[in-house]
Parts: sequence; structure tokens; C-alpha cells
Amino acid sequence: EKDGHDYFMLKEIAEQPKAVADTLLGRIDAAGSLRLDEVRISASELREMDKVVIVACGTAFHAGLIAKYAIEHWTRVPCEVELASEFRYRDPILDPRTLVVAISQSGETMDTLMALRHAREQGAKVLAICNTNGSTIPRESDAVLYTHAGPEVAVASTKAFLTQLVACYLVALYLGQVRGTQWGDEIQAVVRDLSRIAGAVERVLHTMQPVRQLARTLAQKDTVLFLGRHVGYPVALEGALKLKELAYMHAEGFAAGELKHGPIALIEEDLPVVVVVPSPRGRSVLHDKIVSNIQEIRARGARTIVIAEEGDEAVAPYADHLIRVPVTPTLLQPLVATVPLQVFACELATARGNEVDQPRNLAKSVTVE
Ligand code: M6R
Repeated sequence: EKDGHDYFMLKEIAEQPKAVADTLLGRIDAAGSLRLDEVRISASELREMDKVVIVACGTAFHAGLIAKYAIEHWTRVPCEVELASEFRYRDPILDPRTLVVAISQSGETMDTLMALRHAREQGAKVLAICNTNGSTIPRESDAVLYTHAGPEVAVASTKAFLTQLVACYLVALYLGQVRGTQWGDEIQAVVRDLSRIAGAVERVLHTMQPVRQLARTLAQKDTVLFLGRHVGYPVALEGALKLKELAYMHAEGFAAGELKHGPIALIEEDLPVVVVVPSPRGRSVLHDKIVSNIQEIRARGARTIVIAEEGDEAVAPYADHLIRVPVTPTLLQPLVATVPLQVFACELATARGNEVDQPRNLAKSVTVE
């Protein structure tokens, strides 16, 4: 049942190219237009929406944080992302022109369910992004976009996360398509890139051996930090979450720009710091800023583990370990940049003798508030 893998998690990591392709299947037509008729919220209703609010927990929340960049960029509709467990307790502002997106692999997470119930009571429309057919969250939502990751058994979410990202991009692009934005050409180009992204994920999987080796050398460490900017920031948070839940290590993700506002004090000799580097094309200012962050932390002794795009030579001199990922549009980079972090956490958990598929104190779906 594990298809020759030692753990479900490894099997599920390996299944990601297919999960991504399956989630796209039938949703982009030959002309490159998005077909989301299954989302039973009409185009005219979507045109009326003046705000998007995403609610989710854990890894699904990280997918939501990434979605915010895509939604605001492609649609120019303001988007908030909130931990489902915090949402209803702060009296959020919701009305029929708010599109609430609830993201959940299991469809049974109580915090997310309570958040969407609250949103619907206030008259908001709820779209669920969910991996489990017929589960409670999609049943209680106005509409659902299913991710097609297949069953995810390991407690640590991997393939569900990548498909949640795909679903979020589809929603963002679809909203852009129905509303019509200045980014029409870019949307077309991204749709083309998205339809090729499964191949890029596959290529990452074939280059993971050095990541495994590196992870094994860090088994005795207490702390690993993760830095990123833009969509790389939620990727850093996700890398840290994976490491906490699997390796039981102290792991923290930061926005690299925040370093100088405090976290840089944590840097000491030989501290492993993973840095997710944005593409040098596109938002090149951010790229250059993160390269100087890498220089700063390295000058203070950090062991830099750098995830950077193929062909990005500027980072190479400052990387103690360099992990390459394929060239993608900036907004899609999380689909390739997250994979090495999953492998890294899984290997560290193994090296530390932890139970990979069933980490201590955790359940696959959290059905209590
Ligand atoms: O089933 P859900 O997507 O609603 O679950 C949300 C979180 O509990 C889940 O992502 C959790 O953080 C994972 N164990 C992370 O790997």
C-alpha cells in the first residue's frame, strides 16, 4: 500500500506531480481559459465580490497566505487570510459581497467548520477548497472546488498542500478572468505555465538526494530557521511547520525583511538557516535584498541552505548548500520550492528516529475546536 516507500509521507511526496496534474485536469480548456463551472457561484456574483477572506489551519493556512499574493495581484480584490481558530472570535466584517474561501484537506477540521458557519450566518458566500468528497466542510459551503490529491494518510500534509495551491491559483485566475483585469496577458501566460508545472515538480523530486544527505548531517541540531520573502515567506513557514511536527525540532519561519527587526539576534555559529530565494527575474529587487540577507547571516556564522532557481548565480557564493528548483513565474514558485522542505523534514525525522507518518501528539484531522 506504500508502493515500495518506507512511509506514506514519502509515497505522498512522490505522488505530487500526479496530484497537481489531476487537480488541473478538465479545468483549463484548449484555448487556455479556465472552466470552473463546478463552482456554483455565478460569474455575475463573483464580479460583485469586493473582498476575499481565506480561513484555514496549519498547512492549509499557509496555502491561503500564498493565495493572497495571487488573488490580490491578478484580481485587485482585497484578500485577508486568517487562522480559522481566531476568525469568529474577533467579530470579523462580513457581508454578501465577501467571498470566504475555506481550505481544508480533510473537510472535517472543526476550527475551519466553525469559521465558515460564522461567515454564512453573516451572509457571506463560502467556497470550500477540499480534498475529501462529501465531507462536512464542502457540504456546509455554498460551493466547492475539490483538490484531486487522492487520500492523504501521513499526518504531515504534502500532496494536499500542493493541490491546495493549485486550487487557489485556479480560483485567483478564474476571478481575474470573470472580472477582467489589466493582467489578461499575464493570466494567459501563467495558465500555460501552470499546465506544465507538474513536470517541474517531477524534476525537483529527481534531485532530492543531496537534500537527504544534508538533513542527516543536521540530526543533532536543536534549531533550524527558515527565511523567505513574498510567496517564499509562507513557504518558509511551511518548512518550519513540517520540521516541528516531524522532527520535533525548534523551527521558525521569518519574512527575511524582518531579520533586522529582531530575529537576526538568534544567528550564531553553525546555525542552519534555510533561505527561499525569489526569482532574480520579475521581482528582482526582492531577490537582491534576500541575497544581502544571506550575506548578513553568513557573516554571523549561519550555515546557509539556499533554495534558488536554476541559473541564479548571484546566490552561489553565499550558499553553504545550494538546492536548485526549476524556473517558474514568481507566484508559482511555492509549488517547486516546498518540495525540498518536505523531503528535508521527513529525512530529519527519520534520522532522529521519529515516527514519520504518525508524529507524537498529532491527529490527521482535528475535529475538536
Ligand atoms: O484537514 P485540514 O487541511 O483542515 O487540516 C489542517 C491542519 O490541521 C493540517 O494542515 C496540519 O497542520 C498538518 N498536520 C500539517 O502538516
